Parts: sequence; structure tokens; C-alpha cells
Amino acid sequence: MNFQLTEEHLAVQEAAREFAQSELLPGVIARDTEAKFPQEQIKKMGELGFMGMMVDPKYNGGGMDTVSYVIAMEELSKIDASASVSMSVNNSLVCWGLEKYGSEAQKQKYLTRLTSGEVLGAFCLSEPEAGSDATSQKTSAALEGDHYILNGTKNWITNGSSASIYLVIAQTDASLGHKGISVFIVEKGWEGFDIGKKEDKLGIRGSDTHSLMFTDVKVPVENRIAEEGFGFTFAMETLNGGRIGIAAQALGIAAGAYELALAYSKERKSFGKPISQHQAIQFKLADMATQIEAARLLVYKAAWLKDQKEDYAHASAMAKLYASEVAMNVTIEAVQVHGGYGYVKEYHVERLMRDAKITQIYEGTSEIQRIVISRRILK
Ligand code: CAA
Repeated sequence: MNFQLTEEHLAVQEAAREFAQSELLPGVIARDTEAKFPQEQIKKMGELGFMGMMVDPKYNGGGMDTVSYVIAMEELSKIDASASVSMSVNNSLVCWGLEKYGSEAQKQKYLTRLTSGEVLGAFCLSEPEAGSDATSQKTSAALEGDHYILNGTKNWITNGSSASIYLVIAQTDASLGHKGISVFIVEKGWEGFDIGKKEDKLGIRGSDTHSLMFTDVKVPVENRIAEEGFGFTFAMETLNGGRIGIAAQALGIAAGAYELALAYSKERKSFGKPISQHQAIQFKLADMATQIEAARLLVYKAAWLKDQKEDYAHASAMAKLYASEVAMNVTIEAVQVHGGYGYVKEYHVERLMRDAKITQIYEGTSEIQRIVISRRILK
């Protein structure tokens, strides 16, 4: 068993670390305070190849493995989880499914622009009354000649207003339950497609999360991905990979908070010595470091299984469940190590603590991950 990163992995890590320090760190506190989307930063991430890392170079992708992707996600998430969730959604939830199941025409028309960073994508599954229970889709797509008529509302959509290309999951035959769900590519600006209110969130405040409304939107038949009825499987398979990206994001949030706490503990003095010399702090640092290392192993393993083309659904659920809980534990402890300074914006750890919470909720709550894991164990 080899735990060493390759030269290519180390180069990706270095490039992501450098980008995070030079481009994401300046302004990250202001973007959080003002709930401002990192537009310029995302554009640069596209130019550097972070937005379609695993896609075949013939579609402008980076042709890299999933391990490279999680390494980059970890580094960027240490600094700005709002930017990294856009990257995760674009790579895992939009590009992956388009490359795997899209037609050649769909790939030429949409994928090539998503990978180059020219446009952003969004994945539209959740609805006001269908979150964890994803089969209860109300959004409908009715076939009329050479197009579908799309009606419904989607909620909690990451990149909601910044995206140009939306993968929308909708019922094409309600009588068939989850086997009557299909998936469509919808473009921003089409008649009847409205972007609803922006959510005012606890964390990842720079990420733009919106509801979307579809009223008699005409979607050409050629914009359906794969056959009718494939949409639920498409969504589940997509989320299996998406959860690896969010697990890597959670890992990055935890590692970022830990690095700040470690540095602070060496500088801050109390009772005549740096607080890192007090056992109360040493034990916290030891626990944080151990949990982060365990989470990293789960994340890398899930990514590696995906690269080996083995079944990774179970591993990605375990990685997301554990890494997101570590992100919460570690960021709380990082605030504690900082004392009063941890409670103010300037020191970053309070933002990381707020950002950590969403990793236990989106792309399947911790409870959903436990369902996925326990079903596999008991199968
Ligand atoms: N991978 C592949 N296929 C899967 C699957 C998986 N992980 N989970 C279920 N399926 C398949 C099943 O095999 C079954 O297929 P067949 O009918 O062909 O046998 C079908 O899907 C239905 O499965 P279930 O009977 O298990 O369905 P269920 O209603 O009991 O629910 C669930 C399954 C796992 C709970 C699922 O609904 C789920 O994952 N819910 C969570 C949804 C979610 O993660 N939402 C996140 C929103 S996206 C987001 O957050 C994006 C963002 O912007 C950041």
C-alpha cells in the first residue's frame, strides 16, 4: 500500500495552495460579510483549470484523476469554502454527469464551456418539499412534440444566479415514481425561467444560493440527458461523486482551522509561556490532527476507488459523513484555542466554523449518509 502522493499530485497541491493564498485569501472576510459571490476568483479558477479537472482534455478538461481533484478542493477550502463549493458543483455535479451520460452534441455545446470556466453550471434536484426525500419531485416536464414543457420550483441551488447552464431533474411520468424522473439541460435566459430569492445564510455566505422558478419553459428534446426515466439514477450516481468533493471541502475547512489554531497557539502566551506549552491546548491539537488525518484517509480512499473504477458509493458516503463531522468538531475547537479572538471575524476561524455546518447538510445530510452506509452493510 502506497500513501505517497505523485509528482503530479504535489504540483496540483502547490498550485492550489498558491492560488488560495494569493487570490482567495485577500477579501475573503469582506466577501463573507457582504455575502458577495467570488466572481473574479471563480473566473481565474476556470482559467487555471480548476473547474473541469477530471474531464477529458478533448472537452477542454484537465484529464486528471479524482485524487488530484480532492487535493485541490482541500487546499482551496482551507481558505474559501464559498469558492470551493462552486468548484465542487461544477466539477462533480455538472461536468461529471454531462461527460458520462451526455450526447456528443451536448458535450460540444455545453461541457466544453463549463470546463474552461467560460460559464458555470448548477445542479437542480432539491425542491421546497423534496430535500432528503429526493424521489418526491414535483417539478414536471411534459412532452409536447419536439420539446418538453417544464414547470416547478427548485430550492437551495448553489451557483443559482451565477450559473448559465442548469441540470434540472423533473418528473416526466409521475405514475412511475422514481423511474419516471428525467434530467434536462436548461439555459439561463429561456422564457419562463426565473431566478428567485437569494438565501441569507449562516455560512458559505459568498456562495450564491437561490430558488429557481420554471413556468412553461420550453426545453428541446435534444436537451434531455440519456433516456426518459433515467433522471433519478443520474442524480444518485452524480451525488455519489459529489459527496467526495464535499468531503474534501469539509477536510479543507478542518485543516484550515487547525493550521490557524496551531500557529496561534505558538504565538499567544499565557501564564508565562506560549499556550501550545499547556497540556490543555496540546491535547486539543493532538485530537484535531488525528481526526483530520483519519478524514483525509477516507477522502483519498473514496477518490482512489473512483479512479480505479470500483464501486465508491459507500466510501464516498463514509468520507462525507466523517469529514463533515470532523470539520464541525475541529472548527469549534479552533475557535476555543483562539479564545476571544476566535469569536471575531479577523481571525478567520469563526467563519470556518460557520462554513463547516453546511457540509453536514448539503449533498445528502449526515442522516442520509448513514442510510446509504447502513443499507450497504445490511444488504
Ligand atoms: N447510487 C446509485 N443508485 C442509487 C443510490 C446511490 N447512492 N441510491 C439509490 N439508488 C437507486 C436505487 O438502486 C434504486 O434503483 P432501482 O429502482 O433501479 O432499484 C433507486 O435509486 C431508488 O432508490 P431507493 O429505493 O433506495 O430510494 P429512496 O426513496 O429510499 O431514497 C435516498 C434513497 C438514498 C434516501 C435518496 O433519496 C437520497 O440520496 N436522498 C438525498 C438527496 C440528496 O443528497 N440531496 C442533495 C441535494 S443536491 C445539493 O445539495 C447540491 C448543491 O447545490 C450543493
